[in-house]
Amino acid sequence: MNIAARAMTTSAQIVKVALGSRAYDIHVGRGLLARAGDLFAPVLKQRRGFIVTDATVAALYLEPLTANLKASGIRTDHVIVPAGEATKSFAHLEKALDAMLAAKCERHTMIVALGGGVIGDLAGFAASILLRGVDFIQIPTTLLSQVDSSVGGKTGINTIAGKNLVGSFHQPRLVLADTDVLATLPRRELLAGYAEVAKYGLLGDAAFWSWLEKNANIALGGDDQAHDTLRQAIVTSCEAKARIVAADEKESSERALLNLGHTFGHAFEAEMGYGGELLHGEAVAMGMVMAFDISARLGLCPPTDVDRIRAHLKAIGLPVDPPRQGPHGTITAARLMEHMTQDKKMKDGALTFVLARGIGSAFLTNEVPAAKVQETLTAALSA
Ligand code: NAD
Ligand code: GLY
Repeated sequence: MNIAARAMTTSAQIVKVALGSRAYDIHVGRGLLARAGDLFAPVLKQRRGFIVTDATVAALYLEPLTANLKASGIRTDHVIVPAGEATKSFAHLEKALDAMLAAKCERHTMIVALGGGVIGDLAGFAASILLRGVDFIQIPTTLLSQVDSSVGGKTGINTIAGKNLVGSFHQPRLVLADTDVLATLPRRELLAGYAEVAKYGLLGDAAFWSWLEKNANIALGGDDQAHDTLRQAIVTSCEAKARIVAADEKESSERALLNLGHTFGHAFEAEMGYGGELLHGEAVAMGMVMAFDISARLGLCPPTDVDRIRAHLKAIGLPVDPPRQGPHGTITAARLMEHMTQDKKMKDGALTFVLARGIGSAFLTNEVPAAKVQETLTAALSA
C-alpha cells in the first residue's frame, strides 16, 4: 500500500519481517506498552521475562511495563544500566549477563530490551550469547530505534577499536514500537531519529520523500494529529527496512544501502567522540547531504536534489553542515579520511559508498576516487 492510501486507514499497524522460521511482527501504534502482556503471549515459551533498560527509560516505563506483564501472569526480573552510548561496552554486557544468570534465566526465558538503540543492541547481543542464545523482544523507545535499530537483528557493543565491532545477527521475536513513549523523548533525539526516517525516502522511495517534505512537520508536532502521521512514517520506514532485511539478512549486498550517509557520518562521529556532542542521527543527516553532494560532483545526480535535501533537513531542525571543531581541535578532511579508512565496511582496501542517481535511487559502489571524497569533505568543511 502506498503512503497516500495508508493515510486513509488507521489499521496498518503491523509490519511483517519475512525471515522464514525467524519471521516476526513489528507492531506500530499507540498504547502498546499497556497491551504488552497480550502481545507477548504468542511468542513466549515460558511466562517469564528479563528486562534490560537504562536509568532514564526505567524511571518512565519500567513500572508500567512490569505491572502490565504481571497482570497477564508474566513474571519479570530486570537490570538497569546507565543511559548513553558508553553502555554498549564489554563491562555492561558482562553486567547484564551476570544479572540474567543471577536471576536464573533459563533457555525459555524471554529477554526484553526496553529503551533506545543502545539498549536494543546490548540486550540483543546478550540474548544471542546467554546460554548459547535465547529469544528476545524489542520495545524501542526512541524514534531511531523504532525505525531502524530494533528491526533486522544487528546487535553488538563498541570496543576501543571502534563502534559496533563486536556483535551478532540475532533477530528479535517481536518488536513493539509504541508511539506514545516518544512524547517524553527530548526533541533533539526525536529529530536525530527523523534522519533515519528520511534515509528510507532518499535511498529507495522518492514518493515517501515527497510525502515527508509535506508531512514531517506534522509528524514531529507532538499533538494527536502527529501520532497518526508519525505512525505512517514509522510503518513506511519499517516496511522498507523489513523488505531489505528479508532480501539480505546478513548484509552481503542490498542491506548495505541502509548505510546511506553513514560512511561520512561515522567519520564525524569518530572525530567528535561519543559523548553526545554529535548524535548518530545528526551525523547521518549531514552524511546523507554529503553522499548526495559527492554523487552530484561525480555527475550522477542533479545538484538540485542536494539543495532539496539540505533545505528539508534544515527546515526540520537537523544540522546539515558538519562541525569544524572537535575535541582534538580543528576537523580536517585528512583526519576524516583517516577515520573512513578504518571503517568496517572496507573491502580489499576500498571503501564501499552509498551514492545516488537522484532522490530514491541509491546504489552501492567501491569505485569512488579518493580525490573526490577529499574534495567533498573540504567543501563541506568550508560551507
Ligand atoms: P539511545 O539508546 O542512547 O537513546 C537516546 C537517549 O534517549 C538516551 O539517553 C535514552 O535514555 C533516552 N531515551 C530513550 N527513550 C526515551 C524516551 N521514550 N523518553 C525519554 N528519553 C528516552 O540512542 P538511540 O539513538 O536510540 O540509538 C543509538 C544506538 O543505536 C547507537 O549505539 C547505534 O550504533 C545503534 N544503532 C543500531 C542499529 C542496528 O541496526 N542495530 C541501527 C542504528 C543505530
Ligand atoms: N542500520 C543498518 C542496518 O541495520 O543494516
